[in-house]
Amino acid sequence: MLSGSDFLSVQDLEKREVLELFRRAAAFKRKPLGTCLRHKTIAMLFAKPSTRTRVSFEVAISHLGGRDIYLSAGDLQVSRGESLGDTARVLSRYVDGIVARLFKHEDLLALAEYAAIPVINGLTDLLHPCQALADLFTIQETFRKLRGIRVAYIGDGNNNVTHSLMHACTLLGVDLTIACPDGYQPLERVSREALQNARSSGAELRIVQDPREAVKGADVVYTDTWVSMGEEAEAREREQAFRGYQVNSRLLGYARKQVKVMHDLPAHRGKEITSEVMDGPASLIFQQAENRLHVEKALLSLIYG
Ligand code: CP
Repeated sequence: MLSGSDFLSVQDLEKREVLELFRRAAAFKRKPLGTCLRHKTIAMLFAKPSTRTRVSFEVAISHLGGRDIYLSAGDLQVSRGESLGDTARVLSRYVDGIVARLFKHEDLLALAEYAAIPVINGLTDLLHPCQALADLFTIQETFRKLRGIRVAYIGDGNNNVTHSLMHACTLLGVDLTIACPDGYQPLERVSREALQNARSSGAELRIVQDPREAVKGADVVYTDTWVSMGEEAEAREREQAFRGYQVNSRLLGYARKQVKVMHDLPAHRGKEITSEVMDGPASLIFQQAENRLHVEKALLSLIYG
């Protein structure tokens, strides 16, 4: 159970817990305030920039009666070599939880190992589980079901958003096809975990190269940046590799007529997605961003309720 626990990966959750989390998220969307963080302080330890994760967590904490302290990793003694383990031990004596956005997933695991308080993954290079929960909640909210929904993910298969989406779709019985160029396939370990989930849930997981093949019959087409944070030096090479993987109206022509489009943001308009699609009637993108707030409240209420 999540009560008092870390949340580092979608794999930490059982299907029934995610469904309960979605029920609570829907309730918070109707009635935004709660009290489970009264007299509690959450540290927001961020080593990378953020708009959605930072603001949605800060607002969620405030709406639940708590307060947060934003700690840019560059301002902490970790920037001068103090270990994350020691930082975690000290923070555990001041605050009631840590939302951490770090580069290496191993650093998050070290933080969680030494912290005596819950640690929530606000993104690492490997996983972005809070995003995936909001994504699947948005799909359920839109289609009124999860089972049988077909998602096509177009672009970089080897990034944190794709990995957590793989975990979440396969846990919840949502079919997922990933279209990515050779050399950008998901991490093998994550594929194995997702296939294991799929065996229990009945979901289908496919990895293909042709975006048209992936979107055929899709209910949702999902994309993400071609150049994640920390990969800026590879920008030119990546843009070359992902040419042909843009989500545009021509590609959507191969999907179902009522197809919806998702993107976790920030988007690079004209690169992985066109403005026409982002701002068009199929877009769930800003609803998806809003749902980060409701889902994170639900998550906090499960951990601290
Ligand atoms: N999707 C997402 O995590 O956005 P931020 O990087 O702005 O937090």
